Amino acid sequence: MATNVDIQAEGLAPFADLSGLEATLREMALRPSDEFGMTELEHGAQCAAALALARPEDLELRIAGLVYDIRQGPFHEEIGADAVRGVLDERVAALVGLHVDAKRYLVATDRGYRGLLSDVSLSTLRAQGEDMSEAEIVRSKADPHASDALVLRRADDAAKVICKSIACLDVGLPVLREVA
Ligand SMILES: [Fe+2]
Repeated sequence: MATNVDIQAEGLAPFADLSGLEATLREMALRPSDEFGMTELEHGAQCAAALALARPEDLELRIAGLVYDIRQGPFHEEIGADAVRGVLDERVAALVGLHVDAKRYLVATDRGYRGLLSDVSLSTLRAQGEDMSEAEIVRSKADPHASDALVLRRADDAAKVICKSIACLDVGLPVLREVA
């Protein structure tokens, strides 16, 4: 169990304010994503742009698409949800927290979905508990945010187009500030 000191030391603490979240997005603009040949921020911005097309009115979903991988490593969905909860709406935090379950749900319910996953995503799937059980699927369907989490997950899977030009923070920051 991580202590508060560990969490602070590892940069996993919840954001105190919007400027902390923005600073992390700027760091993501410099970090290569492990699997797509693009930066972490480019991937998030592509995901947000896909959600802007799919649901133009839903700014919270769009911002969830930008920030859902704001934390890395084991349990990053829960740590990420906790990180943004104090700055963004509870619904955005819930969607961040559900993005791994959405993958496990889709692997269990969509025959072709596993084949879409990269090697990295398949290896993290093992650590994340593989596909959902029947009981987990029933529980997931009762979650009011679950269907939006699936929309987010599909946008995440589509947001891996190398060389697609997105002016990352120009797209994300105005909406982020509106939603926060
Ligand atoms: Fe993730």
